[in-house]
Amino acid sequence: MPKQKKIQDIEDLPGVGPKTAEKLRQAGYHTLIDIAAASIHELSETVGIGEETAKKIIESAKEALGFGFQSAYDYYLDRQQVERITTGSKALDELLGGGIETQSIVEAFGEFGSGKTQLGHQLAVNVQLPKDRGGLSETDKPAEVVYIDTEGTFRPERIRQMAEAVGLDPDEALKHVLVARALNTDHQMNLVRKVPKLIKEGHNIRLVVIDSITAHFRAEYVGRGTLAERQQKLNKHLRDLLKLATTYNLTVYVTNQVMAKPDNFIGIDFVQAVGGHVLAHAITYRIFLRKGKGGVRIARLIDAPHLPEREVTFKITDEGIKDV
Ligand code: GTP
Ligand code: MG
Repeated sequence: MPKQKKIQDIEDLPGVGPKTAEKLRQAGYHTLIDIAAASIHELSETVGIGEETAKKIIESAKEALGFGFQSAYDYYLDRQQVERITTGSKALDELLGGGIETQSIVEAFGEFGSGKTQLGHQLAVNVQLPKDRGGLSETDKPAEVVYIDTEGTFRPERIRQMAEAVGLDPDEALKHVLVARALNTDHQMNLVRKVPKLIKEGHNIRLVVIDSITAHFRAEYVGRGTLAERQQKLNKHLRDLLKLATTYNLTVYVTNQVMAKPDNFIGIDFVQAVGGHVLAHAITYRIFLRKGKGGVRIARLIDAPHLPEREVTFKITDEGIKDV
């Protein structure tokens, strides 16, 4: 379905040559979304360009992202591309409107042991299933995963175990998961920026997992004075992820530990992250997980405007995530 070639990188913006692009990057504007969310004054000051130029660049970035008008037909075509990955539980899939969607960010939050990491492993396996079984693999084109592990809780053995349970070759399943241990927030953000390169090299990345998205942010920004700074940086990280999800039609799954006593809670503000604008086709889901009686897990969908807020149960077994 031919559509006009999209402006995708900051170099593609009219009036931005390699020099200005370099200046923009140095000033922290890496993506179109960063620029669209900037103010004219801020951009002109930090990059050292005239206000007129800054205004033009911001306008073009907004237009390219669809912050202006987009025809309903183009929107419809984008939405037609959305695909779904099964969680392994019919109840949980139904809660999410039929599995977790591409072109979206899914955040699982909840206390320790609630199943956030297990769900990450399960999705990394299930995305590799053929499309008629709830995955995104095509004949001769297996779906691949980028798994960014910040807490050292990725377990290849668990991937093998879950892969065997769904009838996938456990070694092949592991080969399709590209794992990186993020050492700090900067490293974590840089790893995300490397994903487009992997895709251009031919990797069929359909899922990006960040487990946990908030741990390093929590550790690095502790004092009261740094909270605003932390949130700003986290929002930027989310913007990068949203761009990844929509540009490459993939799913981003992130985890966020919240304690029973919420003194150190990091709220993920998706609206704030996109600069107060709602991206035309970036849809976000937040699932609150908690432990129920007898090892059962309870999932509640929060803040999803188009789906009813309700709860379902699932369980974590040796074979992975299953219905109760
Ligand atoms: P934090 O990272 O500490 O915040 O927790 P989390 O939400 O990531 O929890 P995680 O997904 O690691 O869930 C851990 C729980 O999953 C364990 O307490 C077990 O109940 C269950 N679990 C993990 N591995 C297995 C397994 O191999 N077999 C079974 N039956 N259950 C497992
Ligand atoms: Mg975990």
